[in-house]
Amino acid sequence: MSKFIKKITIIKPDDWHVHLRDEKILKKVIHYTGKFYQRALIMPNLDNPITNCLKSIHYKKRILNSMKLKYKFQPLMTCYLTRFTKSKELRNGFLKKIFIAAKLYPNDSTTNSRTGIKNINCITSVLECMEKIGMPLLVHGEEINKNIDIYDRELKFIENTLEPLRKKFPKLKIVLEHITTKDSVEYVKKSNPKYLSATITPHHLMLDRNDMFIGGIQPHLYCLPILKKNTDKEALREVIARGDKHFFLGSDTAPHLCKNKINFFGSAGIFNAPCSLLCYMHVFEEMNALKYFQSFCSENGPKFYNLPINKETITLIKKPCTIIKKVNIDKKNIIIPFLSGQNLNWSLE
Ligand code: NCD
Ligand code: ZN
Repeated sequence: MSKFIKKITIIKPDDWHVHLRDEKILKKVIHYTGKFYQRALIMPNLDNPITNCLKSIHYKKRILNSMKLKYKFQPLMTCYLTRFTKSKELRNGFLKKIFIAAKLYPNDSTTNSRTGIKNINCITSVLECMEKIGMPLLVHGEEINKNIDIYDRELKFIENTLEPLRKKFPKLKIVLEHITTKDSVEYVKKSNPKYLSATITPHHLMLDRNDMFIGGIQPHLYCLPILKKNTDKEALREVIARGDKHFFLGSDTAPHLCKNKINFFGSAGIFNAPCSLLCYMHVFEEMNALKYFQSFCSENGPKFYNLPINKETITLIKKPCTIIKKVNIDKKNIIIPFLSGQNLNWSLE
């Protein structure tokens, strides 16, 4: 039936997982998120991570100053947890709405996680405080250990860290960010969505690990958590197509300069902001699940974060759209977006 739908209007979506970076890159990428989304939850993993209120206030100012106010767009800030994070600082930040949530990066798990958490027991008092004040904990859910296969990191994190954590803090609100596996879908699905939810990226809904190697190695498809099996991708697609309220939009748009992606140690991250919403639309249409598109994009997230649902709407029309090939950052540097130069069936009205 949905193949006859030519136009769809939904409540303006929010993106609950965005890397905007800073300075030159920030100035060039922000508009892609601002165009499609009313609010975005900004990840704190800058080269100098956002670890306290003051840094966050300054970063938010830089974000707002970099916007050419063509769109109403609201950045929501997060705090990067380290073993030095003080409960008082977090509580203060949360109560003053400087921070909406705090992010846990396991040490060495991804971009700028050198000061991430090595041992979760070091932040017990911080987690206790977050549970008490209802401040959400966002987790990069991968267990990092040289004996753990990269494809098993997410499951091992659930078994060894997340499950014990939830037993210890049953009322702590947790988002398992960018889930990639069938195991994670099954795990999140059976929880109370008030306390455990998950974001899903467009690339994990559209690709599997084989896609990284079609025609040669494709560095622009390297992200963390790494793309998984086709059966994992199918489980992600099926759960959103059933309208499950545990899952909401978090694109994990993660721009890196091309020279850093194509390198001896290429950076992980996919810059999908120019097409993320169109990709989600594409997947919901393929899954014949357009009736759940709005709840995934615009309702389940605010509900989890206890924030109002947006009042404005956005309209997508069935008209082919070519994704930009590259974003010029300066004379020497470009960023290649997800689906660079490719066509999608839907466009922004
Ligand atoms: C992200 C980045 O580059 O900041 N990279 C990624 O592959 N997703 C960090 C993250 O969310 O893991
Ligand atoms: Zn991310």
